[in-house]
Amino acid sequence: MDKKTFYITTPIYYPSGNPHIGHCYTTVACDSVARYKRMQGYDVMFLTGTDEHGQKIEEKAKADGVTPKEYVDVKVAQFKKLWDYMNISYDRYIRTTDDYHVKAVQTIFNRLYEKGYIYKGEYTGKYCTPCESFWTESQLDENGCCPECHREVKEAKEEAYFFKMSPFADRIEKLLLETDYLRPKYRAQELVNNFIKTGLEDLCVSRTSFKWGIPVTFDEKHVVYVWIDALSNYITALGYENEEYDDYKKYWPADVHMVAKDIMRFHAIIWPAMLMALDEPLPKHLAVHGWITFNGQKMSKSLGNVVDPFILGERYGADAIRYHIMREMALGADSSFSNEIMINRINSDLANGLGNLVSRTVAMADKYFGGTLPEDREAGEFDDDLITQAKALREKVDGFVDQTQLNNALAAIFELVSRANKYIDETAPWVLGKDESKKARLASVLYNLLETIRIISTLLSPFMPSTMPKVWEQIGADKELITYENAGSFGVLPADVRVNRGEIIFPRIDVEKEIEALNEIIGKNAPKEDNGGFEAPQQLPEIDIEDFAKVDIRVAQVRECEKVKKSKKLLKLQLDDGMGGRQVVSGIAQWYKPEDLVGKKIQLIANLKPVMLCGVESQGMICAADGKDGSAVVIFPDQNLPNGAKIR
Ligand code: MSP
Repeated sequence: MDKKTFYITTPIYYPSGNPHIGHCYTTVACDSVARYKRMQGYDVMFLTGTDEHGQKIEEKAKADGVTPKEYVDVKVAQFKKLWDYMNISYDRYIRTTDDYHVKAVQTIFNRLYEKGYIYKGEYTGKYCTPCESFWTESQLDENGCCPECHREVKEAKEEAYFFKMSPFADRIEKLLLETDYLRPKYRAQELVNNFIKTGLEDLCVSRTSFKWGIPVTFDEKHVVYVWIDALSNYITALGYENEEYDDYKKYWPADVHMVAKDIMRFHAIIWPAMLMALDEPLPKHLAVHGWITFNGQKMSKSLGNVVDPFILGERYGADAIRYHIMREMALGADSSFSNEIMINRINSDLANGLGNLVSRTVAMADKYFGGTLPEDREAGEFDDDLITQAKALREKVDGFVDQTQLNNALAAIFELVSRANKYIDETAPWVLGKDESKKARLASVLYNLLETIRIISTLLSPFMPSTMPKVWEQIGADKELITYENAGSFGVLPADVRVNRGEIIFPRIDVEKEIEALNEIIGKNAPKEDNGGFEAPQQLPEIDIEDFAKVDIRVAQVRECEKVKKSKKLLKLQLDDGMGGRQVVSGIAQWYKPEDLVGKKIQLIANLKPVMLCGVESQGMICAADGKDGSAVVIFPDQNLPNGAKIR
């Protein structure tokens, strides 16, 4: 019988700069799902690639004095190098400059034209150059800027082809609201309200103002503009309308497209509309995650030096980075990155949790039995609880992987790690080891631990593929015992299993020293123009510590947030300040949406006299720094700090 197939994709990345850790999240997450599905026996197709056309690339290449193709070739090599480094097991890599893709996109464009879904018109609109997007007046943010990046847009007019979206509005609304296509589902209503209820507008799909794109065959001054080119990759890479591959029938429709929230609209509305117009089946799921942020800002090239994945990987290993970013990001929400949180997590979960479990178990088997367990056994208290939890783990992880909730999958695995460490404390093998008559009991305890580690490490291997084989070596598990089937049963290792003491799999990191070392590296790597023309304002006159002590600064958490009616600048925030709660009004609406703030910890000036702002009472102030461009950038403290903690 043919194996069941599973097709998963990342977005195709713009190779307009070097890849950074923000790009790693989707790729690592898809890789883990792909590996998990392969382990389950699926025939997996995991696709990633690069989206190489567009004005931005054309301009960058020109500035570097090279052709666009020369420019992207260098960048694509960087992406591939990073994916090798992070152990990304993609099955196929598509470049939108590949010949077969170019021809297939031309065929798709022509087909849509012939069917009457593409027509020629004139575009007048607001254009955002960095996002390469046209926006209608109603879609702009309240400052008249781009709704995605909030930068200025300019009026633009040109002859263009359009893709008719309206015929698909009803079907797309149903897809979003009545199926589980979109994950998390709570984003569906917002999409329907913002883009469908207001009338699904036709999409501009060609440009004449630059050349670096796929020419429209019947009107060569036009190039196919961004989305028809980019989105088609998911099917052209399988051989749709080309001879390069022949897997379309086998793998389409995709099981999961994974993307971040900024390109959700394109995948939730435009992509289904294109497929409907082509009469092709729709993908099964679209998993949308948030951004990896740094100080509340989307991590991007300019911050790449702070968290260069190569530097971090060299210091802690690719698996530790993979673990950290997947453990931190909940589907749908943003995850804030800090070197300190990462190092603490490596220490607590990997070094103290998993690493300790493995090294203590193996060391005791070595010490008390010379490395080979005797076959006599004696069951005892606590065994059943551990064994039941270990046997149940696979089903839990399966469920979370199927829902693309990888943070929860890892949390479930690490619950068992904690349970097993607790089992060591409960059974106290070092006491059993002193008593000859307890040897059979001791052997049982160590066997149960080795079995639990086998199950844990098998299920963890798709997430941390390079470290787990080291664990198997240490617990004496032959490669053929490491299977998905065996991860669901207990008692798989031979009774006389032989362990091999080995190196510590995750050494503990000295947090303070490491942060110092990282800061030094970051300092060295910081680009000279890092301050981007920003001039620090003159320092204020000195004050005494007593003056400073008068200011009561606290950690607080945003519980609710909404715009102040009739104000473009003000947000009203309900805070949990550890002291009963309060309301604060802040002039940051130009730079933050309410949903960017809900759940975040902020710094509150708690003892400012209340004032009325636009008729709303503000009982304090939240701290923000002046951004380079005159923006206000909220200073987010560590999310783990308790509400009400004093800041000194
Ligand atoms: N080329 C388009 C995608 C076309 S897919 C048919 C594109 N490219 S991108 O390189 O700008 O972004 C690719 C993906 O990386 C997007 O999902 C984007 O949100 C994601 N990320 C870029 N920075 C990120 C973070 N800091 N955090 C998480 N994901 C981030 O958009």
